[in-house]
Amino acid sequence: MCGIVGIVGHQDAAPVLIEGLRRLEYRGYDSAGVAVFENGSIAVRKARGPLAALEALLDESPVHGVVGIGHTRWATHGEPSTVNSHPHTSNAGDIAVVHNGIIENYQELKQELLAEGATFESETDTEVLTHLIASCVRNAPDFLTGLRQALSRVRGAYALGVLHAKEPDVIYAARLKSPLVLGLSEKANFIASDVPAVLSRVNQAIYLEDGEIARVSVEGVELFNLDGEALEPDPQEITLSVEDVDKAGFDTFMLKEIHEQTRVLQGLIDKNIDAAGQIQLSDLNMSDADLIALERMMLVSCGTAFYAAMYGRLLIEQYTTIAVEVDLASEFRYRSPKISPKTTVVAVSQSGETADTLASVEMAKAAGCPILSICNVKGSSLTRVSDHLIYTEAGPEIGVASTKAFTAQLMAFVLFTLKAGLARGEVSPEDAAELIEELRKIPNAIHYLLQSTDEIQSIAGKHHEGPSALYLGRRFNYPIALEGALKNKEISYQHAEGYAAGEMKHGPIALINEYLPVVCICTATTDDVSEKMISNVREVKSRAGRIIAVVTEGDRRMDDVAEDLIPVPATLEPLSPLLNVVALQLLAYYAAQARGTDIDKPRNLAKSVTVE
Ligand code: M6R
Repeated sequence: MCGIVGIVGHQDAAPVLIEGLRRLEYRGYDSAGVAVFENGSIAVRKARGPLAALEALLDESPVHGVVGIGHTRWATHGEPSTVNSHPHTSNAGDIAVVHNGIIENYQELKQELLAEGATFESETDTEVLTHLIASCVRNAPDFLTGLRQALSRVRGAYALGVLHAKEPDVIYAARLKSPLVLGLSEKANFIASDVPAVLSRVNQAIYLEDGEIARVSVEGVELFNLDGEALEPDPQEITLSVEDVDKAGFDTFMLKEIHEQTRVLQGLIDKNIDAAGQIQLSDLNMSDADLIALERMMLVSCGTAFYAAMYGRLLIEQYTTIAVEVDLASEFRYRSPKISPKTTVVAVSQSGETADTLASVEMAKAAGCPILSICNVKGSSLTRVSDHLIYTEAGPEIGVASTKAFTAQLMAFVLFTLKAGLARGEVSPEDAAELIEELRKIPNAIHYLLQSTDEIQSIAGKHHEGPSALYLGRRFNYPIALEGALKNKEISYQHAEGYAAGEMKHGPIALINEYLPVVCICTATTDDVSEKMISNVREVKSRAGRIIAVVTEGDRRMDDVAEDLIPVPATLEPLSPLLNVVALQLLAYYAAQARGTDIDKPRNLAKSVTVE
């Protein structure tokens, strides 16, 4: 969602702002704008639509100056439009603001400001904040004091970049519950909502904490808290590389990220399983005694991360005696869950910035629950409030549709389950060794699967035209059916539903006719679930459904039942989701390609959902 970038340097700011905003496009947006100091006053250019529209405007009506801020907006308060887009300016035109997040009390603040005589152009909460800053600054001895006073009146979340005409060589930045990073280099300093925006230009970063305000000039950074006390900045080396955020020759980030899964999973195995088969998880910060003491876990997350949590529950329950529940963060935060310090709340999130997940964690912390986070972004809001961490180490995920972050989350659950199971004596060293041996084969198996994508592409080509598709799975592959359906609908816009295959007779079987593609995950070969799944597939067949079966290589049981087969390498059933989901990612990917959608930036979606 919304992106922020700002530069204080010696070169023309506008092209740098556009370049930074382009790097943030993946977050999703519907309008964009910049504000640049030009001859001592603030010049603003904004346009609805893609960055190209803003670039065209800048060509027609250029702005020149070396200090500026830019923004891509994803509409929350007010429709996508030029007037609602950022930067917003004060009535005197001497303050410009870009903002990510939501000001919850903006209505009451607006009434006050209207009474003071402020006039409003837009429907946004950000314009209210801009006028509030202007009002506080009018009565304050200096800009910083006025800004602090304004921010102390605000409820909600913000990452801010602010220009003030009296200090044309400075950007002010502030953060509360919405990420903001300061990028440092010898020639210029930057602000950004995400490191990739400025990665090619900086070598050090300062991750702002909640309640911090920064005064950024070309000489350096001064940091303050909301009481105005000076703080010591703590710059950190940036370890990301530019290649990490490039497409590396792939048509899309999503395809690149699907292919990266081999490397990501291999990396997690190498880092966390030592030669003796011991599980490391160095950021988990839980002793064997802590793991033995675990009684109950509550897993909370959204979207794809929720399906990873569903898998996590199945796995932890299968191998340990820990009681595990799972809920959508957006539901959990509004119910009255019976949680206490004996419940470890596990938050799963790629970005670590998802509003509902963070709110659930806040609620759990208030109840005294320890927080374990499975997260991809180091330094994100989630990782800062967690007691225990498993980093998924998948690298930046730019495609809106989550792929490598998801398989890394599944892997994190496998590693945690092994570690907890061994510590508690509930997984025997022999069973752990068998699981680890099979786990070590997974990256290669994915690599193998990725060598034969033509087959999956032609299957997608046959089935993408229908209005709808059904995905069925059982036990470990029920969350994968849900995830396969989500991938399909979010990038191809073909309606798709995931179902537990055992639920078919309770309703969805009525949907089946000779036109409906039904993706059936049938890779379990040896256990109770396998037979049940085959019966379900036969029920689909007898109603003429068009079956696409994901099967274990060499398993011939679906040959006369399925219209199309997607064979995947054999593995243990609990690990099969790591392979099956890759097949379904590809199926969705090629369906989307055939339907001609914008795969990396599907309509209406944002990469991180930082508002409710
Ligand atoms: O950053 P998070 O993992 O917390 O995000 C959760 C969901 O918004 C995310 O997984 C979403 O469902 C993706 N678009 C799925 O591909």
